[in-house]
Amino acid sequence: MKVSIFGAGYVGLSFAACLAEAGHEVLCADADLARIEGLQRGLMPLHEPDLEALVAAGLAAGTLQFTADERTACLHGDVLFIVVNTPADAEGRVDLRHVMAVAAGIGRHRDREAVVVCKSTAPVGTADQVEAVLSGELSQRGAQLRIAVAANPEFLREGSAVRDCRRPDRVVIGSENPWAVDLLTRLYEPFIEDPTRQLLVMDRRSAELTKYAANAMLATRISFMNEMARLAEHAGADIEMVRRGIGADRRIGPDFLQAGAGYGGSCLAKDVRALRYAADRDGHALRILSAVEATNHEQKSRLFDLMTHHFEGRIAGKTIAVWGLAFKPDTDDMRDAPSLVLLERLWAAGARVQVYDPAAMPNARGLIGERDDVRWCDTAQEALQGADVLALVTEWAEFRRPDFAGIAKALRTPAIFDGRNVYDAAEVESAGIAYYGIGRGRSSLLH
Ligand code: UDX
Repeated sequence: MKVSIFGAGYVGLSFAACLAEAGHEVLCADADLARIEGLQRGLMPLHEPDLEALVAAGLAAGTLQFTADERTACLHGDVLFIVVNTPADAEGRVDLRHVMAVAAGIGRHRDREAVVVCKSTAPVGTADQVEAVLSGELSQRGAQLRIAVAANPEFLREGSAVRDCRRPDRVVIGSENPWAVDLLTRLYEPFIEDPTRQLLVMDRRSAELTKYAANAMLATRISFMNEMARLAEHAGADIEMVRRGIGADRRIGPDFLQAGAGYGGSCLAKDVRALRYAADRDGHALRILSAVEATNHEQKSRLFDLMTHHFEGRIAGKTIAVWGLAFKPDTDDMRDAPSLVLLERLWAAGARVQVYDPAAMPNARGLIGERDDVRWCDTAQEALQGADVLALVTEWAEFRRPDFAGIAKALRTPAIFDGRNVYDAAEVESAGIAYYGIGRGRSSLLH
């Protein structure tokens, strides 16, 4: 099948590469010429496991192509996916300009029937708006084409985008048009093992809301666990045990129950904000989401608060080694990363930091710029040298089994602040290092 994809970000690019791998003829378009020229030569604009190899394979096979020319992309596909970014402002108002610009472009250039699919995360009613913009453009030039607009949200995660695309838990098709549903069902066929379980066909508005509800639910689970972690700390309980205890209940399930330094990234926070804003505006205040946001906001300061406690308020002049800056492992994405809050708070308190991340250093450096109170280190080991204590913010695989004896030697006053609860408190403490986790009754805090 011929497919056009508008938007070469995380979602657009991963989706394009996976469709090409499955044998579809994919043309991926982006307005950013430098990005497209890079991609045409196989250069990745972002760090995502397996994506580079997949793009290279698609380019070599000729099933994946890139263009910065809107018209070419509008004419190529039988199916056209809109996968451009939909930023939300601080209050949660979503900016749909990029989506509508693509819709207008399709309306101006398209010369035959098409199924147009909104994959960008966008408020309920966006597909209706896309349809209106498209029809407006078509009628202005007197074109009479059969165009169906569907909503088809994407649930892939950064860091496992390729895996999630190849094997989605479910594909949600929002359309009541049999032609569009049939085309999309065939398009996704290579990724679906069990259609009755994985393929969900519904109306457009339900599909659009499904995406927001999913992210809101995930964020709610995390904030819930972070609140339980605070309680566990004071009650002398270990949230990791509680997590296992409740995750074993099939009604709850084991995933997304990890207490930590707070959720970050480009989606959860933005989508929770947007959903809350839209609901508020319509007079349906979602009180639970306001609490989820407030808890997450506080949680991002949790490591700093533990350090304040450890140093009895005297953080000025201390040097903190920080392992991990990206908002999660296997990505170089710094958007809304909890590390940024920790760094800001440490600097404001007069501390210095020595930071290391396996992939996000260039992005972090670009964002933060050069300053006297940060040292950008080339290795995890270098970040430790001469530091007072260590904070683990992102649970990259390479941080998971460190040499604790080496850490104890490198740090001036050995203590680990484990923002992702990846270490075993007893193991850390037996190496002579004080241990602070999130919501762990064994935290040195309680000793
Ligand atoms: C999320 C959704 O999972 C995905 O379905 C949607 O398409 C986009 O938004 P992503 O932002 O890539 O994906 O990462 P995710 O794995 O969801 O993690 C988000 C944040 O939550 C990270 O900062 C992570 O560290 C944090 N998190 C996740 C926790 O604190 N605890 C958990 O149990 C899980």
